[in-house]
Amino acid sequence: MRQLPQDFFRSPYAFYEELRAEGPVHAIQLNTGVRAWLVVDLDAAREVLRHPAIRKDPHTDASREARGLPADDTGVGAVNTRISYHLLNTDPPEHARLRRLVTPAFAPVRIDALAPRVLAIADELLDRIAADDAGRVDLLSEYAFPLPITVICELLGMPVADREDFREWSRVVVEVSTATPTEIRHATDAITDYFERLIARRRAEGLGDDLVSDLIAANSDGERLTDDELISMVFLIMVAGHETTVNLIGNTVLTLLLDPARYRALHGNPAAVPALIEEMLRYNGPVNVATLRYSTAPITLGDTEIPANEVVLVALGSANHDERHFIDAARFDPERSTSGHLAFGHGVHYCLGAGLARLEARIALTRLVERFPDLTLAVDDAEMRWRESILIRGLQDLPVDLAGAPALR
Ligand code: HEM
Repeated sequence: MRQLPQDFFRSPYAFYEELRAEGPVHAIQLNTGVRAWLVVDLDAAREVLRHPAIRKDPHTDASREARGLPADDTGVGAVNTRISYHLLNTDPPEHARLRRLVTPAFAPVRIDALAPRVLAIADELLDRIAADDAGRVDLLSEYAFPLPITVICELLGMPVADREDFREWSRVVVEVSTATPTEIRHATDAITDYFERLIARRRAEGLGDDLVSDLIAANSDGERLTDDELISMVFLIMVAGHETTVNLIGNTVLTLLLDPARYRALHGNPAAVPALIEEMLRYNGPVNVATLRYSTAPITLGDTEIPANEVVLVALGSANHDERHFIDAARFDPERSTSGHLAFGHGVHYCLGAGLARLEARIALTRLVERFPDLTLAVDDAEMRWRESILIRGLQDLPVDLAGAPALR
C-alpha cells in the first residue's frame, strides 16, 4: 500500500504522474492511519463522482465501516454533529432538496450583479496596501483572503468584523489531518454557537435581504429544512467561501510572478484574464483531493476492484494533469483548451460557488495587475510554505514586494 511522499504538500504532481502510469486507482494509507482508494485518472474520476454506489453521508453504517469506526460512533469524529447535515454530507434524493434551496442565490444573474461590489472591495483593499509604507506585504492575508471573505460575509449577512475568528476555525476544520480532536471540537463548537446566535438574532430582529434570512424563511416550512440543516448549510458556505477562492488567487499570483513578464503582460489586457484563470484552475486548482466518499458496492476501475464499504478519494489535481486529456499537462498554458477539467468537481456535488469564484478571481487579478504592474515575489519559490492539507492546495503566505524591488534570490 502506498503512502503520501514527504514532499506531497509542496508538490503532489510528480507523485500523481507516477500513480497514473500504473493505473487509475491505488490503495493508500493516509497520515491519519485511514486506508483509502485514491482515484487519479480523469475518466475514472468522472465515473466515481457520478457513480450511484459511491456515497457521502457520514452518518450511515457503511460509512462507519469504511472508516473503521464502531457502530455507535456519530460518524463525524470530534466535529459538532449539528454542523454535519450539509450538502457535501448528503446523497440523492435528500441532496436535491437541500441544493434547490440555495441554487437561486448563486444563479448567474445574481452573481453578475455582485461585480460592482467585488470591484469596490478589491480597490479598497489595494488602497490600503498602497498606503502601507513598508513596500512588502503578505498578499494572501492582505488581499486574497479578505476579498472573498468580505463578499461571502455580505452575501450571508454576517458582520465582516468576525472574519479573523472564522479564519482560524475554518483552518482547523479543513486541516483535520493535523488538528487534534480537542482543537476540532473547540472550533466546531464555536462555529455552531456562533451561527445559533446569529440565527436567533435574525429571527428576533426580523429577516433582511441576505442568504441567512432566505434560509430561515425556508426553514419555517419544516418539511424543507431542519434547524441542523440550516446551521450546516451556512457553515458549509462559509468554509467553502474561506478556503478556496483565496487559494485560487494566491496560486495564480505565485505562478505569474515566477515568470514576471507574463504577469506584466496582463497590464492593460484584462481580456486575457478569464482564460488564464481557467487554466490556473486546471493547472494548480485550490481543491487537490475531493471530499471523502465511500463505496457501498464493489466497483471496478481498470484492473482494480474497489470492494464495498471502503473510503474513496478523488484526486482532482491528478485528473487535471491526465495526459490523455491535456497534452503537456504539467505546463501552464493559458492558450490551451481547459474543457472538461475537474477543479470544481463533477456530478450532483459540482461546486455551487463556481460562478462566484470565477468572478472574484478575475476581478482580483485584473485590479492587482492594474495597480501594481511591477509586483515581485519577496522570497524564492523553494521557500514558499504550502498548507498541510490533503484537501486544499494553497500557500500559507505570499510575501511580495510592491514596487518592483529586486526579489531576494
Ligand atoms: C476557486 C474556488 C472554488 C473551488 C476550486 C471549489 C471547488 C469545489 C469542489 C471541487 C467541490 C466538490 C467537492 C466534492 O465533490 O467532494 C465544491 C463543492 C461546493 N462548493 Fe466550491 N469551490 C470554490 C469556491 C466556492 C465558493 C466561493 C463557494 C460558496 C460561496 C463554494 C461552495 C460550494 C458548495 C456549497 C459545495 C457543495 C455542493 C454540493 O454538495 O452540492 N465553492 N467546490
